Amino acid sequence: MKILAFAASNSATSINKALAEFAATLVPRAEIEILDLRDFDLPLYSVDLETEIGIPPAAKRFLDRIGTADAIIVSFAEHNGSYTAAYKNLFDWASRLDQRVFQGKPALYLSTSPGPGGAASVLAQAKGSARFFGADVKAAVSIGSFHQVFDLTSGRVTDPAILAKLTEAAEALTLQAVA
Ligand SMILES: Cc1cc2nc3c(=O)[nH]c(=O)nc-3n(C[C@H](O)[C@H](O)[C@H](O)COP(=O)(O)O)c2cc1C
Repeated sequence: MKILAFAASNSATSINKALAEFAATLVPRAEIEILDLRDFDLPLYSVDLETEIGIPPAAKRFLDRIGTADAIIVSFAEHNGSYTAAYKNLFDWASRLDQRVFQGKPALYLSTSPGPGGAASVLAQAKGSARFFGADVKAAVSIGSFHQVFDLTSGRVTDPAILAKLTEAAEALTLQAVA
């Protein structure tokens, strides 16, 4: 089972990327592929620019990477209560080729932040609109106070309760994706 894991962030030190990568290791027998949003450099979307230049190849590359996966793990960074501009921009371009950006794939939605809120607001938005974009969300987990519960050196969650929750979510993804 091929898992595509990524953060909806273009930060080189993204905590959501660390979380998505770790969550992927909890999926039994998974072949893990990591996607980095920084590899999808796109101009700021506008209908005028689309008319002028068409849709840049990076948007299709993003859809293709999703298309070759059996399941998706995405961890959402929250900027001012919503998506990061980088993710929203990539998503907007990709949606012009196929509104079902997630192509019906089973998905595990995560979010984390250094504060106690755990980026729950952006996670709720992503979850609430998932059906419009072809994401079959099997589980959604928000994790607050990231640096208190995750060791960046080992790349692992250190809090047993959170580890249990994530493990359960990762397993739900596997079982239901295979069924
Ligand atoms: C412009 C900006 C806005 C932010 N807004 C929020 C927010 O609304 N809620 C929140 O929990 N954290 C917010 N943060 C803090 C982020 O959660 C923090 O930078 C986190 O590391 C982002 O995830 P990433 O490291 O995966 O990019 C904000 C950070 C920036 C730079």
